[in-house]
Amino acid sequence: TEKVTIQALQKMRDSRIPISMLTAYDYPTALACSANPSIDITLVGDSLAQVCLGYKSTTQLTLDEMIHHCRAVVRGTTHPMLVADMPFGSYHGSMDEAVNNAVRMVREGQIEAVKLEGGEEIVDLVHRLTSVGIPVMAHVGLLPQRHVSFSGFKVQGKNIESAKRMVKTSKLLEQAGAFSMVVEAVPKELGKYITENVSVPTIGIGAGPWTSGQVLVWDDAMGTWLGHKAKFVRRFANLQTARDTGVQSYASAVKDGSFPDPQRESYTLDQAEWTRFL
Ligand code: KIV
Ligand code: NA
Repeated sequence: TEKVTIQALQKMRDSRIPISMLTAYDYPTALACSANPSIDITLVGDSLAQVCLGYKSTTQLTLDEMIHHCRAVVRGTTHPMLVADMPFGSYHGSMDEAVNNAVRMVREGQIEAVKLEGGEEIVDLVHRLTSVGIPVMAHVGLLPQRHVSFSGFKVQGKNIESAKRMVKTSKLLEQAGAFSMVVEAVPKELGKYITENVSVPTIGIGAGPWTSGQVLVWDDAMGTWLGHKAKFVRRFANLQTARDTGVQSYASAVKDGSFPDPQRESYTLDQAEWTRFL
């Protein structure tokens, strides 16, 4: 499978071939994404904070932690484009600090593009990063890093004013150089409208079926996350059940002495040697 490039993603968008993005947080999940030629983008999302590290919020994730996981994911990534979230706070100080942190993501984390949540307030940064060759995927709509100011994880753009602002913001982010944008938790009509009014690919999550692509969090899609299930989540596998069954079978086999089997699962000493040993 050929390496997925920005140009290839743009072609998919232009010819209405849906783009598929899935998150990964470590080497085995990265391998699972790369094993399927139909996965176009692997995202080291900062959902890493909750589903993988057990934090309550993405705002607790540090840049060092993100880079550590990016390095594991890159070792398991082949054809998908590799994108990662810049953690909360790592791009909110000065422009120079934000650029330095993005450079760390690329140089140390070895990812190919950074994803940034935000609107007009990050337009200058998007321009600066893209102008020095760091590709940026924007993220509009519900911004999980701001769930406290948003008073929760709520559908965005439900009234005309906020929908208009989001369309305007999306166009500004495109003009600033974003090669693509995630659109999260908006009514499907707005997901479609934004998609038709920017020329770069839109990747929806809870944004309806008419965006250029879709993304889901690994643990939501594979059924390994027992927390809240948003309306837009579909479980494509139930790994939780398979995993629990496996743990149970292992534990009971140890407890009842049936594991390991003395023949099939144990090493045997040559009998002559054993007699001398005794
Ligand atoms: O952190 C994440 O996993 C994300 C995607 C769901 C878009 O930002
Ligand atoms: Na994220």
